[in-house]
Amino acid sequence: MTLTRLSLTDFRNHAGADMAAGPGLVALHGNNGAGKTNILEAISLLAPGRGLRRAPLSDMVRDGASGGFAIFAEVLAGADLPPVALGTGIEPAHPGRRIVRINGASAAAASLGEWIAILWLTPAMDRLFVESAGNRRRFLDRLVLALDPRHAQHSNRYEAALRARGKLLADPGQADPQWLASLEAQLAEHGAAMDAARLSTLAALAAELADQPDAPFARPLLTLVDGEGREREGPHDVEALKTLFAARRRIDAAAGRATAGPHRDDLSAVHAATGRAAARCSTGEQKAMLLSLVLAHSDCVARARGARPVLLLDEVAAHLDPSRRAALYERLAGQGGQAWLTGTEAALFADMPGPVTRFRIAGGRIAAG
Ligand SMILES: Nc1ncnc2c1ncn2[C@@H]1O[C@H](COP(=O)(O)OP(=O)(O)OP(=O)(O)O)[C@@H](O)[C@H]1O
Ligand SMILES: [Mg+2]
Repeated sequence: MTLTRLSLTDFRNHAGADMAAGPGLVALHGNNGAGKTNILEAISLLAPGRGLRRAPLSDMVRDGASGGFAIFAEVLAGADLPPVALGTGIEPAHPGRRIVRINGASAAAASLGEWIAILWLTPAMDRLFVESAGNRRRFLDRLVLALDPRHAQHSNRYEAALRARGKLLADPGQADPQWLASLEAQLAEHGAAMDAARLSTLAALAAELADQPDAPFARPLLTLVDGEGREREGPHDVEALKTLFAARRRIDAAAGRATAGPHRDDLSAVHAATGRAAARCSTGEQKAMLLSLVLAHSDCVARARGARPVLLLDEVAAHLDPSRRAALYERLAGQGGQAWLTGTEAALFADMPGPVTRFRIAGGRIAAG
C-alpha cells in the first residue's frame, strides 16, 4: 500500500501541506519541533482508531485556525486496485465528530481498514512491554486489524455492548435480565470473533517469526494471556462467553467494570534468544523485538492481502547502530511496501536504497530534499 499524495490543512503546526510520495522509503528530516511526528500522526488517522498519539480531535486543530482540520490522501491499496481517496478531519461546527470520506462519500471510520493498513512505532512505544496492558492490547488489535479489517467493527460493537451493560449494572433498578442477556449475547458474539482474529494473527506471526533469524532484530515469542497473565488455553467460544458474563453480573456491578472477557486479554512477549520476558529485557532489546515483530507482521499482511501495510517509523533510525540501520533499510526497500521514517538529521537517511522520497521539514513547512 502506498500513499501517493498527502495533504494537510490546519493539522497541528501544518497550515497547508501537500506531499507527493512514491513507493519505497519516505524520509522526513528536520529539527526538533519541525512537524515530523505531526505528519506521521496525520497519516495514522487514515486508519480506524485515534491515531498514534490517541489525542483528542480538538488538540489536532492548528492553534489559531478556525476550528477544523483536514487530512486527505490518495492511496494505492494494491497492484490490481484503482487508487482510492481517503479523507478525515473535523468541522468547526462539530469539533467532537470525526468526519471520514472514502472517494468523496461519507463513511464510518471502521471502513478505512478495508482500504489501508497502517502500523507505527514511536518513541512512546519503547515502554510498551512494561506499561499497563491497555496500550499493548491496542497494539495487538492494530496488528489484527491490518490482517482482518472486520476486527474494527467487532471491537466497536463489543465496546458499545460493554458500555451499555456497565450502565445497566450500575443502576440495579434498570437491570432488566432480558436486556442484560441480549447485551451479553452481543458481547459473546463479537468477543468470540475478536478473540479468534487475535489468535489467528498471533499464529500467523509465530509462523512468520519462526523463519526469521534472531539477528539483527531480536525475535519475540508471542502469546495471548488473560487479565491475570495466564496463557489462554483455547479460543473463547460464544456460549462460554455468554455464561461467563451472566455469571459475573454481581461481581462486575460491585467492581463498576467488566472484570473478565476478551477486553482484559493481553499480549505477552518473550525474547526468543534469551528466554527472558520482554518487560525484563533491556530497552534496546525491547525495541529490537518490536521492530522484528512489525517487520514480520508486514510479511503476514503481504501474504494475506497481497499488499504491505504502510509503516510509520518515528525516530527509529536514530536509535539503531549503523549496521542495524542499513539492515533495516535493506529489508524495508527490498519488500516493496511504503515506510515513512523521521529523524533530525538528513545524514541518517543518506544511504538508503531506492526508491526514496525525501522531505525537509522546518516550522511546519515542507520542501523536497
Ligand atoms: N494544535 C497545534 N497547533 C500548532 N502547533 C502544534 C499543535 N500541536 C502541536 N504543535 C506543535 O507542532 C510542533 C511540531 O511537533 P512534532 O511533534 O511534529 O515535532 P517533530 O518534528 O516530530 O519534533 P521532534 O524531533 O522533537 O520529535 C511542536 O512545536 C508542537 O508543539
Ligand atoms: Mg517527533
